[in-house]
Amino acid sequence: MSAYVEVTDLRRLFDVSKPWLNRVIEREPRRFLTAVDRVGFSIAKGETFAIVGESGSGKSTVARMVVGLLPPSAGEVRITGISMTDPREAAARRRLRSRIQMIFQDPYASMNPRWRVGKIIAEPIRAFNLIQGEGAIRARVGELLGLVGLHPDDSKKYPHEFSGGQRQRVAIARALASQAEFLVGDEPTSALDVSVQAQILNLMRDLQDRLGLTYLFISHNLAVVRHMATRVGVMYLGRLVEVAAARDLFARPRHPYTRMLLDAVPDLAHVGRARVPVSGEIPNPIDPPPGCTFNPRCPLANDRCRAEVPPLLDGVACHAVQEGRA
Ligand SMILES: Nc1ncnc2c1ncn2[C@@H]1O[C@H](COP(=O)(O)OP(=O)(O)OP(=O)(O)O)[C@@H](O)[C@H]1O
Ligand code: SF4
Ligand SMILES: [Mg+2]
Repeated sequence: MSAYVEVTDLRRLFDVSKPWLNRVIEREPRRFLTAVDRVGFSIAKGETFAIVGESGSGKSTVARMVVGLLPPSAGEVRITGISMTDPREAAARRRLRSRIQMIFQDPYASMNPRWRVGKIIAEPIRAFNLIQGEGAIRARVGELLGLVGLHPDDSKKYPHEFSGGQRQRVAIARALASQAEFLVGDEPTSALDVSVQAQILNLMRDLQDRLGLTYLFISHNLAVVRHMATRVGVMYLGRLVEVAAARDLFARPRHPYTRMLLDAVPDLAHVGRARVPVSGEIPNPIDPPPGCTFNPRCPLANDRCRAEVPPLLDGVACHAVQEGRA
């Protein structure tokens, strides 16, 4: 069975060199930061794959490459079998475009403040020529507003007349307007109050059930991830360190980093397991530690960990787990 989304060996480097003249004067080489390193996962149709990790772990960079906003340095993204990068598949990719939509943390930034919400939601319908006739478009906009829990009359308002949560509903309506079937949410509720956050998450789940949507869901918040995800990938310094079904990950975290993340949230910590204290900071990604990049923070690190990068085997990238000493 082929997956809806197939990500293979994805890498992304950023050039973080000083300007050319400074480099020449200071005799410094070019410097690259590896934001995403050999990340691979697949997402089945109708499921929610969540990526969780601390700030700077590369979550947004993965999301932007998956939707085609950022070209990868290496590796590949295929959606319904179509490559998001191969120039030979450009025509097929154009047909796929409207079905993939991204939802950001700050919906206001992506809305024209001088447009009424009705025009904002109708824009993709017009751009992709999905419905003909003004009356039919207006009816569809009203229907979409109802679908996200707003009133058809809200189409006459401007974005600033809505609360943060309502604006995120507008952003979701606009995504659905283009007949999206795959939504990528990059921290879509992180800016909202906890109670509003829950409403938006529940709306997204409800829409997924009703419309058969597939989600890639990015969050640093484990409680949110547990509420949303079918499967979870845990990222650390650009690499996936654990991939598991959400239920298994929260009941039996295997990677030392996943355990540390879960232990930091008392409500989620698995009772009856010795707690690993949270310690240390994320190293600088420009100059990461050799071997397993988690080794400076890991209570189980040994010499092998400081020399060899652990491959992702059976869903975990950890020597200790693979050696049976975790
Ligand atoms: N355009 C860029 N140029 C240089 N470095 C970048 C660029 N974009 C991202 N990075 C770096 O790549 C790494 C990963 O960034 P990314 O934004 O993907 O992380 P994130 O997991 O989404 O973090 P956050 O939770 O803070 O949103 C970081 O070290 C970041 O500084
Ligand atoms: S490979 Fe070693 S350092 Fe890395 S998480 Fe496993 S035990 Fe810790
Ligand atoms: Mg981010």
